[in-house]
Amino acid sequence: MTPTMAVPPDTVSLSDYERHFAERADPAVRAYVAGAGADGITQRANREAFDRLRLMPRALRDLSGATSRSELFGEALDYPIILAPTAYHKLLHPEGELATATAASLTRTWMTVSTQASVRLEEIAQRAQSPLWFQLYLQPRPEDTLSLVRRAEAAGCKALVLTVDAPVNGVRNIEQRAGFRLPPGVEAVNLAGMAPPAAAPARPGSPVFQGMLRNAPTWDSVRWLCSGTRLPVLLKGILNPGDVAPAIEAGAQGIIVSNHGGRTLDTLPATIDVLPLVARAAAGQIPVLLDGGVRRGTDILKAIALGASAVLVGQPVLHALAVGGLAGVAHMLTILQTELEVAMALTGRASLAEIDPSVIFSPASG
Ligand code: FNR
Ligand code: LAC
Repeated sequence: MTPTMAVPPDTVSLSDYERHFAERADPAVRAYVAGAGADGITQRANREAFDRLRLMPRALRDLSGATSRSELFGEALDYPIILAPTAYHKLLHPEGELATATAASLTRTWMTVSTQASVRLEEIAQRAQSPLWFQLYLQPRPEDTLSLVRRAEAAGCKALVLTVDAPVNGVRNIEQRAGFRLPPGVEAVNLAGMAPPAAAPARPGSPVFQGMLRNAPTWDSVRWLCSGTRLPVLLKGILNPGDVAPAIEAGAQGIIVSNHGGRTLDTLPATIDVLPLVARAAAGQIPVLLDGGVRRGTDILKAIALGASAVLVGQPVLHALAVGGLAGVAHMLTILQTELEVAMALTGRASLAEIDPSVIFSPASG
C-alpha cells in the first residue's frame, strides 16, 4: 500500500475507510487488524448491539449554543472521542504513530499510546499537541513496568490505561490462518531491553497456566500501580459490574468498558449492552468510558446516553491511517465529530449532559 495515496473521493463514512482498507491492504496485515477472537461473535455483537438501539428525538428544542464539550480528569475535551491504544502503527504507515498523533492533534483529539507502539513514546509526545494517555501492559519485571510509568509521566501523559482483559492473547484464528508475522522494522520499540514475557515451560504442562499467566496483573498489581504514580489510572477491559467496586477500592480513577474489540475471549457480550450495568455500579464515583464497534456519531450518542463519559475508537484509526495517512486519520475523526453533532442536533440535545437514557427508544416508555 502506498502511503501517499489520496483518500478516494467516495470515502464519506468509517465503513468506507474499512472497505478501502480491505481492498488494498496486505492480507496478513488485514487479518491482524481485524483480529477477531475465534468465531468473531463478540466482534460482530459489538456492532449488532449498537444497530439494535433506536433513537427517540425531541422536536423543536432550542439548540443555540450547543456544544459537545466536556471535562475529563480536569482537562477540557472537545468531543467525547479518544483514540484507543492500538499496537504497531508502522504496519499501516511508514510514519506510524507520529502520523496518528499529528492527525489527533489537528482534530484536537486525545490519543492513547500503546505499550506496543512502533515509535518511541518520547517522539510521539514531542509531536502531539493534544493530550496523550499511555496504555500499560504489565511487564514481567516490576522495574520495567515502573520505567514505562516514569517515562509516561516525564513525557507529559495525562493518564495511564492499564489493560486488564488480555493477560494472554485470545484464540485469533483469523490471524493464524493468514500467518501474520511482524515485518522487519516494525517492533515494540518502547520495550527494548526489557525482559520478554515468560516463555512456555520447557517441561510438559500448560503453556497458558504455567507460562504467560505468571505475568498476569491482579488487584494487587492495580493497587501497586495506583499508589506508585501521580497519574490517574483507568482500567481497560472491565465488563463485569462486580469488578467496579474492587477497581475503585484499588485506586482506579476510571473504567473503560471493553472487550478488546472482540479480540480476546469470543462470545463475551457487546460493550454497549453491559455499559448500563457498569455505569450503575460506578454510580458517578469515577468516569466510565466504552470502546468496541464505535463507527457512527449515533453510536457515540447511544454510549453517552447509557452512561459513558467518552468512547474510544480502535480499528477505524488503522483503516484511515493505511488509506490516507495523517490526512486520512484527521478526516475520519472529523467525520465522527460531525456525525455526533448531527445526531445531537436531530435528537434535540444541546450538550452531552442532555443526552440522557430517554434518547434511546423503548416501546414501553413511548
Ligand atoms: C488493539 N487493542 C489494543 N488494546 C490495548 O490495550 N493495547 C494494545 O496494544 C492494543 N492493540 C490493538 C491492535 C489492534 C490492531 C486493534 C484493532 C486493537 C484494542 C483496542 O484498544 C480497542 O479495545 C478496540 O480496538 C476497540 O474496538 P474497535 O474500535 O476496534 O471496534
Ligand atoms: C492486540 C494486542 C496488542 O489486541 O493488544 O493485538
